[in-house]
Amino acid sequence: MNTLDDTLDPADWSTLRALGHKMLDDMVDHLATIREQPVWRPMPEAVRQSFAAPLPSTGTDVQTLYTRFTAEIQPYVTGNLHPRFMGWVHGGGNPVSMLAELLAGAMNANCGGRNHVGIVVERQVIAWAAEMLGMPAQTSGVLLTGSSMANFCAVLCAKQKALGEAGHETGVNGAKLTAYASAGVHRCVTGALDMAGFGRTALRKIPVDADCRMDMTKLRAAIAADKAAGFTPFLIAATAGSVDTGAFDDLNTAADIATAENAWFHVDGAFGALAALSPAKHHLTAGLGRADSIAFDFHKWAQVTYSCGCVLVRDPAIQNATFAQPTNYLAAAPRGLAGGFPWPCDLGPDLSRGFSALKVWMTLSAYGTEGLAKVVDNSCALASRLAEKVRATPRLTLLAPAALNIVCFGIEGKTSQEILDLVADLQEDGLFAPSTTIINGQTAIRCAIVNHRTTADDIDALVAEILRRL
Ligand SMILES: Cc1ncc(COP(=O)(O)O)c(C=O)c1O
Repeated sequence: MNTLDDTLDPADWSTLRALGHKMLDDMVDHLATIREQPVWRPMPEAVRQSFAAPLPSTGTDVQTLYTRFTAEIQPYVTGNLHPRFMGWVHGGGNPVSMLAELLAGAMNANCGGRNHVGIVVERQVIAWAAEMLGMPAQTSGVLLTGSSMANFCAVLCAKQKALGEAGHETGVNGAKLTAYASAGVHRCVTGALDMAGFGRTALRKIPVDADCRMDMTKLRAAIAADKAAGFTPFLIAATAGSVDTGAFDDLNTAADIATAENAWFHVDGAFGALAALSPAKHHLTAGLGRADSIAFDFHKWAQVTYSCGCVLVRDPAIQNATFAQPTNYLAAAPRGLAGGFPWPCDLGPDLSRGFSALKVWMTLSAYGTEGLAKVVDNSCALASRLAEKVRATPRLTLLAPAALNIVCFGIEGKTSQEILDLVADLQEDGLFAPSTTIINGQTAIRCAIVNHRTTADDIDALVAEILRRL
């Protein structure tokens, strides 16, 4: 703001207040009319170039900035608010969470630690998350940017169990430790093994069965072969809702094997863990509550605005030992602002962190688990509808079982490039935003139904539009 003298606050609050009210009105209108807008718009080159401007040395009036926001930023975002966005696995957000972000911004709380309400709200959210996913009441956890970080933190906890204090002092140091996950594991788990110093090849990717679930016989065989070769299995990372197809590994069997091997049992449930809330899909999550750790996102199926993921850890002492580093300037105090331990900075890699817990707390409080369960049920019912339509349409082929909320299908007589072009056309025309993947060597149109605004009409219109273009 160029009107300021000594502080960054305005000399006259009334102008800012009026602009703030307008912003809020505009954003509520934006949400209320989202269905009438294009799903996505490619960004014109001139607009892209406007973000290659030199570093400003003098200020610009915030009204001018807001005018630029409405013209050059707001139209060109990802599109995942829209009911016809079905790509990747993106949550649709919710208006309560949007407002919570405004409130949290106004509070500007640093939730790395100290004795204040942000820490207390986050503990409440972690306790609720543990209950939702069937973990014990003493489970600890921390909010993170997303499941990529949550999976990374879980791998570090598994390392803590395997190597203890030595792992902190000397690192992995050539320890022959091996981890196991399905071939359909998300890339971030492989990346987590890499970032934790084990290297990607320490993760053994176990083939999947016809339902895209980790083959437990092959898992046992891989473990036996590794042990015979002098390796120690330290981590089994099962998947609850795989990124490509939404497949669930058999969590109980994976837990049994981990127990027998004294290995850490982790579950990547980035979106699938939320199936625990759904009466119709809860059975898929059997065994989830036996996990040593779970990674999942609030920003996906729980519809909290980006970003917010979470790692839950059954043994709070292990999570604390993984991340805490005693330091004079962060010492626990019995009272005052330096009280209120344990602090989130001892449960994850971040020291300074924002008040993400507020938007989670407000979302869970506003909609309750019943509201979120309805979203999960609705997404799965819509995915079943889409899968049925694909089965009933001769030119479309279902390429993987649609057991949850993801449907992957191919188009007879179309090359891979033609399918990729069709999806890009749908996106660029602003009509639908599915994504693509490869299933058993075949290019698939991949629809992940996550958005709470998506309806049966959207599914029917997608199929009709694809058929119209063939
Ligand atoms: C199964 C699975 N694991 C992990 C991730 C990574 O989550 P995030 O994008 O929140 O980091 C995803 C993202 O889609 C996912 O589907």
